Amino acid sequence: MIVGTVKEIKNHEYRVGLTPESVHELTAHGHEVLVETGAGDGIGAHDALYEKAGARIVATAAEIFASAEMIVKVKEPQPGERAMLRAGQILYTYLHLAPDPDQTRDLIASGAVCIAYETVTDDQGGLPLLKPMSQVAGRMSIQAGATALEKAHGGRGVLLGGVPGVLPAKVAVIGGGVVGFNAAQMAAGLGADVTILDRSPQVLERLGMYFEARAKTRFSNRANLADCVADADLVIGAVLIPGAAAPKLVSADMLKSMKKGAVLVDVAIDQGGCFETSHATTHADPTYIVDGIVHYCVANMPGAVARTSTYALNNVTLPHALRIADLGWKDALRSDPHLLAGLNVWDGKITYGAVADALGLDHVSAAQAVA
Ligand SMILES: NC(=O)c1ccc[n+]([C@@H]2O[C@H](COP(=O)([O-])OP(=O)(O)OC[C@H]3O[C@@H](n4cnc5c(N)ncnc54)[C@H](O)[C@@H]3O)[C@@H](O)[C@H]2O)c1
Repeated sequence: MIVGTVKEIKNHEYRVGLTPESVHELTAHGHEVLVETGAGDGIGAHDALYEKAGARIVATAAEIFASAEMIVKVKEPQPGERAMLRAGQILYTYLHLAPDPDQTRDLIASGAVCIAYETVTDDQGGLPLLKPMSQVAGRMSIQAGATALEKAHGGRGVLLGGVPGVLPAKVAVIGGGVVGFNAAQMAAGLGADVTILDRSPQVLERLGMYFEARAKTRFSNRANLADCVADADLVIGAVLIPGAAAPKLVSADMLKSMKKGAVLVDVAIDQGGCFETSHATTHADPTYIVDGIVHYCVANMPGAVARTSTYALNNVTLPHALRIADLGWKDALRSDPHLLAGLNVWDGKITYGAVADALGLDHVSAAQAVA
């Protein structure tokens, strides 16, 4: 198969769909790989590395869209890219179609086979191609919080781990899923005094067994939340109710109970945020202060560590890319129901029920596409 990857053109996106190492795997399987010149510059993977891995460097995205049978990307295609998609061409990338009628309309019009990373499933009922970005964001949340706690950034001047003779900072992590677990791991590793709140007894039990005495767990109800938030130097918002906007668990009123210079990091901001006073910020200007409390609410945290994020993403996307290239999309999807769950648009039709429902459009089943 001819596989192509292009330079991401979304604002401040430095990740790339295929690393040189992934290209090496594809070429070892006998596939031809086309890479747009400069596609990997943002992660320090320059053209020469791709050439060494067996790729052919191509001057423009247009040439790649014209000849590749499968396009592997990171972010959803932008309008100019959508216009270059061809009927039957495979697009393998994050799409997030439900809130994006314009993109959905263009993908339907293209006739392309569009496989969305975010809806590919696994045996445990998880979303394995989303997970690495939550791991990155969870770990980053502690770095971001530690920086915001410094005086120069408006924080109360507290070092997470303390020093001998001085108590460590108190960190409350609300939500003990992928983001929360990774945040707690980092905070505990730095020596902070960590409490993880969740409302799922199973999650609390798992966390308790993993962390033992290195972090406390606490059931998430109004009283416990209020208590932990008032006591914390750093609060990480890491809740998710799948398919719904994040619940506002920390009200504007609760800020008044907090210590001045304490920090809120709202990782759930991409789902609207779980603090009432949150609004999305950017890496260029990541924090703002309300009632003396520093808020960090960057919606695309993994973008700041594009190199780590690209490699983490490739680790989970490459096996499927290889199968699609080896078998062709139909056989690859037919033989793997989890990959089939990734099919969102095919032959001018939506093939993912939740996307169609969100946009008030018709759909056919993904199984019909591979029948
Ligand atoms: N800002 C970013 O760059 C970025 C990056 C990755 C993920 N995220 C977001 O982070 C959030 C968390 O993602 P995840 O992968 O960890 O999800 P997850 O499903 O693995 O975990 C969510 C956890 O929240 C818990 N929860 C739900 N309601 C709760 C409540 N009222 N109190 C306490 N816990 C509650 C659930 O039981 C679950 O354990 C999502 O909104 C996700 O989109 C943001």
